[in-house]
Amino acid sequence: MPEIASRNHIEAISRVTKKALEEANITFEDIDSITPTYGPGLVGALLVGLSYAKALSFAIDKPLIGVNHIQGHIAANYITYKELEPPFLCVMMSGGNTQLVYVKDYTKFEVLGKTRDDAIGEAFDKVARVVGLGYPGGPKIDKLAKEGNPNAIELPKTHFENLDFSFSGIKTAVINLHHKMPDINKADLCASFEKTVSEILIENTMKAIKQIDTKTVVLAGGVSANSYIRNEFMKLQDKGIKVYMPDMKLCTDNAAMIGSAGYYNFINGEKSDLNLNAVPNLKL
Ligand code: KG4
Repeated sequence: MPEIASRNHIEAISRVTKKALEEANITFEDIDSITPTYGPGLVGALLVGLSYAKALSFAIDKPLIGVNHIQGHIAANYITYKELEPPFLCVMMSGGNTQLVYVKDYTKFEVLGKTRDDAIGEAFDKVARVVGLGYPGGPKIDKLAKEGNPNAIELPKTHFENLDFSFSGIKTAVINLHHKMPDINKADLCASFEKTVSEILIENTMKAIKQIDTKTVVLAGGVSANSYIRNEFMKLQDKGIKVYMPDMKLCTDNAAMIGSAGYYNFINGEKSDLNLNAVPNLKL
C-alpha cells in the first residue's frame, strides 16, 4: 500500500536519522555528504527520503549525491567484504529486479541480462501467498522448504538465447498445481520451487561468467538471503569461482548499502543538485 508506506516513511525518517547518528556516535558535522536513493522504487516513499535529504544537505551545507537503489544492493557487499573489488559479475535478485550485472568499476555497470516478466522476489511472494504462507513470502518459503524434498516435483524452466530470465512460467505452474491438488505437500512444492529457480539463476550465471571471462560472482538483493540459493551458489567455489554474498542483514533493503554506494559516488566526484527528482523506474 504505497500511500501507507509513504506516511510511515514520514513518521520514521527524523527519528531513524537521529538514532543512526547516536548509535554511530557522530554528529552531522562528521558527515561528508548526504546520499539519498532516488530510484527505482515507489515514488511516494522515494520523495519522502529525497525531500528530507535535500533539506538536510541545504541546512548543514554538505553535498547531495543521488544513489541508484540497485547500485546500493551491489555496494552492500563492500561493507561485508573489505577486500572485494570490481570487476565482477553481480547476480542481482530482489523484489523489483532480477538482473545479471557486469560491475566494471564501483560506479560503472553493464546489464547483461534481466527478467522479461516477474522479478524473482515477486515470484517468491506470489507463490507464498497462493499456498497460504502470507507476506513477505521469501523468508516463509525458505523456512518451509527446509522440511521438503527439492526433487519431489518437476517444474518448468524458460530458456532464452541471451542472458534474460523469466519467472512467470514457474510461478504459474506452482499456482496451478496448488489449485488442482490442494492437498499437495507444501514443503515439497516450496523446496522444488527453490531448487528450480536456483538452477535458472545458476545456468545463466555460468553463461555470463564465460561471456565476460570473470572468476568472481557476487550476489545481491533480498532474495540473496535465501538459504538454498546461497548454498547452491557456494558450490560454484568447487569450480574455482569466488562467490560473495552480503551479510544476511544487508541483503534486504537497508540504508547502509545506500551509504556505501554513495561513498563510491562521492570519491568518484559525482554531485547532484536540489533539482534531483525521484525516478521510479531508474535503470542502472
Ligand atoms: O531487495 P529487497 O529487500 O527489496 C527490493 O529492493 O525489491 O527484496 C525483497 C524481496 C521480497 O520479495 C522477499 O520475499 C525476498 O526479497 N526475500 C527472500 C528472502 N528474504 C527476502 N526471498 C527468498 N528467501 C529469503 N530468505
